[in-house]
Amino acid sequence: MIHLEENLNRIKDFNELYDAVGWEHYSEEIVKKSLKNTFYSVSVYDDAKIIGYGRIIGDTICFLYIQDIMVIPDYQNQKIGTTILKKLLEKVKEIQKENPDVRVYLGASKGKEGFYKKFGFITREDAGLGSGMILKEEKNENI
Ligand SMILES: CC(C)(COP(=O)(O)OP(=O)(O)OC[C@H]1O[C@@H](n2cnc3c(N)ncnc32)[C@H](O)[C@@H]1OP(=O)(O)O)[C@@H](O)C(=O)NCCC(=O)NCCS
Repeated sequence: MIHLEENLNRIKDFNELYDAVGWEHYSEEIVKKSLKNTFYSVSVYDDAKIIGYGRIIGDTICFLYIQDIMVIPDYQNQKIGTTILKKLLEKVKEIQKENPDVRVYLGASKGKEGFYKKFGFITREDAGLGSGMILKEEKNENI
């Protein structure tokens, strides 16, 4: 049965998803700290198997950042990503009741912008803002 869980702390499940969507997973130690420092997350399970995830990080006052929305390939295009993002946006609404000026950001992977546009996200360019930028990593020539 498909069901939602909040605030994942199972490192293996997180890394399983990272592998399933073709991202290079982090070490267990890093994931442990990263999940602990996450403000809110939603996981989707099919019985005991994790099939999707998404989380919110940020200070909850000025900035929220949506990160790591992932649905394993066998379950994509079945509205699991929609369920995850809607649940995260419900949490955003809760926060906005207290902090109406909080800004919600995300960095879309290449080709995934259309998915987020369905939920009201616009590019910084369309919002009249400057580019999103990322600190260049010496170990990775691509970023
Ligand atoms: C992007 C992702 C989370 C979408 O999840 P999903 O469960 O497959 O998406 P849904 O079934 O909820 O799709 C919702 C809608 O978005 C659309 N959509 C999905 N992926 C899209 C894309 N890449 N571009 C444009 N539209 C997209 C669907 O067609 C659907 O449209 P509809 O409502 O008109 O039918 C999923 O494909 C995924 O995990 N990809 C690999 C990891 C990844 O790149 N994550 C994004 C990080 S920024």
